[in-house]
Formats: sequence, C-alpha cells, structure tokens
Amino acid sequence: MNAQVQFPDGFRWGAATAAYQIEGAASEDGRADSIWDVFARQPGAVWQGQDGSVACDHYHRYEDDVDLMRELSLGTYRFSISWARVVPDGTTVNRQGLDFYARLVDTLLDRGITPWLTLYHWDLPQALEDRGGWPARETADRFVDYALAVHDALGDRVRHWATLNEPWCAAFHGYAGAHHAPGQADPVASLRAAHHLLLAHGQAVRALRERDPDASLGLTLNFTDTVPLDPDREGDRDAARRVDGTANRFFVEAVTRGAYPQDVLTDLADVWPEDLVQEGDLETIATPIDVLGVNYYATQAVTGPDPERAAEAARQARAFDEPSPNVGSEHVRAVRRGIPVSDMGWEISADALRELLLRLQRDYTGPRGIAMVVTENGMACDDRPDADGFVDDQERIAYLDAHVRAAHEAIEQGADLRGYLVWSLMDNFEWAFGYAKRFGIVRVDYDTQRRTPKASARWWARLASTGVLPG
Ligand code: NOJ
Repeated sequence: MNAQVQFPDGFRWGAATAAYQIEGAASEDGRADSIWDVFARQPGAVWQGQDGSVACDHYHRYEDDVDLMRELSLGTYRFSISWARVVPDGTTVNRQGLDFYARLVDTLLDRGITPWLTLYHWDLPQALEDRGGWPARETADRFVDYALAVHDALGDRVRHWATLNEPWCAAFHGYAGAHHAPGQADPVASLRAAHHLLLAHGQAVRALRERDPDASLGLTLNFTDTVPLDPDREGDRDAARRVDGTANRFFVEAVTRGAYPQDVLTDLADVWPEDLVQEGDLETIATPIDVLGVNYYATQAVTGPDPERAAEAARQARAFDEPSPNVGSEHVRAVRRGIPVSDMGWEISADALRELLLRLQRDYTGPRGIAMVVTENGMACDDRPDADGFVDDQERIAYLDAHVRAAHEAIEQGADLRGYLVWSLMDNFEWAFGYAKRFGIVRVDYDTQRRTPKASARWWARLASTGVLPG
C-alpha cells in the first residue's frame, strides 16, 4: 500500500499541449505552411495520411478549452506558439497571428491560469526550411527575431518562457531519421540542426534576458532512460553510453556546462562537420537559464553490435515505430525486454524518473541553481470510450500515480523540482502516428470535437487542487 504524499506549497500543477498538435486553422488569419504541414502531405509520412489542419480545432475553441482547464483546477498551462502563424514568411510579423495568442493568454489569466509559453515545438515555417532550415546557421538569427516579436506582444503578461521543446527530436527525427518534418535522412544535416537549435536557444535567452531580466527563461529537453540490455556485455554498456550521450548528455551538457561531451564528439568524429562550431557558440548556448523543463516517458535497453539481437530488434519493429536515429552509432538497437509498455510500445519505469531527476540535480542543474519542472509526462493508452464518450482509464491513472510519486521521492532526496505538467490536456495529433495514439486526460471525439474528461482528468484535478497524492 502506498503512503499518502504531500507536495510542497506552490508546487505547479498543469497540463501541456503544442500548437500543431491541437490548433488546426492551418491556413487562417495569415498563417502559412510549417514544415509539418508540408511533411504531412507526403504519402506515407503520417499514419493514414492524417495531418494537423483541423486537429482539435483549438484555434476556434480556445475559450471553452480554457474553461475546461479551470474546471480541472489546472494552475499552469504549457502551450506553444506556431511560428508560421506569427511570422508566416520567416521575416514579416503577422499581427493577426500574434492576436490569437494575446487572446489565449488573456483568457488564461482571466481564469487564474499561469501561461507557460514554448516558442518552438517543431513547426518551423516552411519559408525558412526553403532557405536551409535548421542546418542553416541563419535560422538561429530568425528565431531570435521571432522570439522578440512574441515577447513584444506578450512579455507584459507571460512570465515563463521556454525557447525549445525537445531539440533532440527536432534535429534527429527531423533531419536524420526522416520520421518527422522535414523528413530528411542526412546525419550531417541533423548535427548541424542540433547545433543551430541550441545556438538559437542561447541567442534567444540572451536577447530575452536583456529585454526582460525578471522573466523565467529555459528550455525543455527529452530524456529517455537508457540501460545496457546485458550489463555484463561491454558492447551493450558502450551502446548505452552512446545513446545516453547523443540523446541526453549532448544537449544538457551544452546548455548547462557550455561543452559537448568529449566521448560523444569522438563517437561522431566521422560525421561531425568541422566548420560547425564557431568561436563563442558554446558560451552563447550556455547562457544561464532559470528552469530546465524535463520531458520523461520511458526507459529502454540497448544493445551494441550483435547480429542476432539486431535481428530480434528488427522483428519487434512495427510499421509506424520510430526507431531511434542513432547518428554515429547506427549499429546500436533498442530491444524490448517484455516489461509493461504504453500504447506507444514504450517501456514503463517510474523509478527511472526519480533517478533521472536526481542525476540532473547532481550533475547539471543543482550546481548552477537551475530549477526543474516536469514539462511532460503521460501515457498513450488504447482508450475505450463508453456510450457517453467516457473513458475509465485506470491504466493511465496508475502510470501517473507511480511517476508523480517517484517525482516526490526525488524532491525528498534533494531535487529542486517545482512543477509537473501532464502530457496532454487532450488527445491530439501525435506526429507521425496521427490521431491513432491518445495521450489526453480529456478525450476528443474528432468527428464532433466534443471533449470528455476521462477518469484520469478527475484524478489529476484532485491532485492539482490539493497537492496530495492519496495513499
Ligand atoms: C514529446 C513531444 O514534446 C510531444 O509533442 C509528444 O506528443 C509527446 N512527447 C508524446 O510523444
């Protein structure tokens, strides 16, 4: 039996979404294509050819959605801005696009909900992709212009700013693995993208800090717990070091220490472009931040060169799996161990969240006085609605309970964790999986756009209003 746990006063509870995944209205009020609009049109790119052109129609329903957030006692709402709405051609600001976010922010504040704004959640304006996208250094400069334009419009009301969401995914799934927009399969381009995303982050933090010294600034990184399939096997231990290196340490070390990990650079030696890093870049990337957003979902076991195991991993792969683009370590494979998985096929481990938060605190955020917030955690489930559209998602509740509990243990053991945002407020467009995967605590019926809170929404609302996890 679990004991009841109480979170500290002021701990932030909320939910998260992202623009392309919920807004729809893809060609309204001056919005132009983002790389996701274009990518989704490519045959075979997204499950059943789906796209975000309507999604949850949040663009038109935002007021009701904010009312729903209030009903669910959410104190914080994490959302992202569609760059292609605000700067459709990559350089000229579209006032109508900004106005939507001004209305959204005003509605949130009116209902007592704190806006937590992310500037980049993967939807680069196609106009900028056409000029080279993230592999081009100039994109980082355009990002700063965009960040300041958003700040000019919302800076008086939004106090929590995140530059990027999961730059690992944007760079590697987008430019190496071809599972995400813009759908390239070029390892060198992916490394250029990764560096320029981080540069964009650092430059934007500098510029925002200068304008608004008191704002809370940061970014969100994704962390996948990665362990050797067979800890006694050197090849597997090395595989885990490599994947943890490119997926986790590469980003967090650049941002908090101003250096890329030496072992990762050695792994990447054959593909790393020599002209990529210019003098001063890493100092810029490590411009001090206030908060590290932590996105955590799963654990994975990896194996190094071993033909038999590689064949097993290939057998396990399903049509719409997103095998990790292990740039520089292409021989490394994740192999499922038969432990419980979500509907994404991701292996579940709440303990790994506790260990992750403690590791981040010890090695990266703690020494620099950076706070942490879990900006995403949640579970895709094969939801079965009853006749009224209600989903009794006990499995999702169990997942959230275990992970929130693990986060509490991490706090007790010294992690400076200030909040926890569930992914996601509502079912939405799950990228290459389209609408097939449901992460919401609120069900969306895509035929009617009806929202129905699931059992997990009621459960989350109790937690958010009391700060107490029942025993
Ligand atoms: C990470 C991303 O930030 C979000 O967009 C995505 O839907 C969830 N994880 C679930 O895969």
